[in-house]
Amino acid sequence: MTDSVKLNAAGKDLDLKVMSGSVGPDVIDIRKLYAQTGMFTYDPGFTSTASCDSAITYIDGDEGVLLHRGYPIGQLAEKSSFMEVSYLLLNGELPNKSELDGFTHTITRHTMLHEQLASFFRGFRRDAHPMAIMCGVVGALSAFYHDSADITDPQQRMIASHRLIAKMPTIAAMAYKYSVGQPFLYPDNSLSYTGNFLRMTFGVPAEEYVVNPIVERAMDRIFILHADHEQNASTSTVRLAGSSGANPFACIAAGIACLWGPAHGGANEAALNMLREIGTVDRIPEYIARAKDKNDPFRLMGFGHRVYKNYDPRATVMQQTVREVLGELGVTDPVFDVALKLEEMALNDPYFIEKKLFPNVDFYSGVILSAIGFPTTMFTALFALARTVGWVAQWNEMISDPEQKIGRPRQLYTGPTQRDFVPLADRS
Ligand code: SDX
Repeated sequence: MTDSVKLNAAGKDLDLKVMSGSVGPDVIDIRKLYAQTGMFTYDPGFTSTASCDSAITYIDGDEGVLLHRGYPIGQLAEKSSFMEVSYLLLNGELPNKSELDGFTHTITRHTMLHEQLASFFRGFRRDAHPMAIMCGVVGALSAFYHDSADITDPQQRMIASHRLIAKMPTIAAMAYKYSVGQPFLYPDNSLSYTGNFLRMTFGVPAEEYVVNPIVERAMDRIFILHADHEQNASTSTVRLAGSSGANPFACIAAGIACLWGPAHGGANEAALNMLREIGTVDRIPEYIARAKDKNDPFRLMGFGHRVYKNYDPRATVMQQTVREVLGELGVTDPVFDVALKLEEMALNDPYFIEKKLFPNVDFYSGVILSAIGFPTTMFTALFALARTVGWVAQWNEMISDPEQKIGRPRQLYTGPTQRDFVPLADRS
């Protein structure tokens, strides 16, 4: 391992420090590069740039490894719960029984929304996309809860974090209820975090809602699979927004906005819509051809990843969960057959092999969410619900970093050089 690299730039010979983490690629410390050379590095899309150091999540894209505070995602998905993983992401260690009970108690008692927030939903059209509602209502939380807005106070940061983790299921369920014209249901503290979400979503005041334990377990596992993922686009958005000292609820609303894009969290909705459009196995070759056609903007949604150049370990767990849930619910869905066949054909196609395109977490999630009863428009809202714990964990890590400063990238300027103003009368 080298402790520095040499660079000759602007006529100077520089020794740039190399920093090593606990695992993964080393980094070249270029913080003084501009001061020493008058030059910037250039990396749109940040394909080779570490924006921070973090101890929360580690991904090895070549090996298909995903660790949360060192624990492999497969073990967490199989043996843990979303509340336990949330505690782990926030605090760095798995909780003991009393810590887990205390954390769950705290989260459970923050699930209610300020009653005035219910009226925010009524300002939306009934056909508003749930992610539009999530952006609006989560942003509106910054107009409430002023007792947890002082980000310099670790106590207030943790209360804001707990409130966000607790209220996202309530807001997501309300967004769904509003879209189908059914009344909102208040949280039920006797239920688990995930059971409470299912009841608020699918329950009605007219009768008791009984949580299906198979669905509850599958939903909880889906939340675990979506909890955090290193410095992805929406997490980077939350970090950048938070770096200015902005209101924590407003920062999470910014993350929701970024996640909505079809290249990111919106891919789960797009993937199921694509599978439904393909419809039958015999139409798969037509879509694979389109995905390979440089003149066709069509991409196989749910395929490919900036980091994973091997299988996304979350897709593996998701596919297994689809099999279990469809089997246990006695549901068959031709879309799942199309998904399995599409994966098989793509993974044997030289284009996808050469470009290292594998199914990602979004490829199968829609099949199971649809089987549970969610409309496709709710899929990304569920992703946002789960990813909120990752966003707040990363936000807390950034704010509590003594070296933290506002994020302010530079640019390669390609516009006009200085020129004098031309009065209107003199313009042709
Ligand atoms: C998530 O970052 C995270 O960790 C995100 C996430 C998380 O948990 O936060 O994992 C969640 O966002 C998963 C990704 C969901 N998005 C999709 O499924 C949308 C479809 N996939 C892509 O658009 C794409 O693969 C990305 C956006 C995911 C990654 O894009 P990159 O890394 O910028 O790669 P690229 O666009 O430069 O593609 C490399 C090549 C290109 O071909 P060339 O220009 O080199 O010839 O691969 C091709 C692309 O055209 N390609 C695809 C493809 N994805 C990439 N071709 C067909 N189908 C695809 N899906």
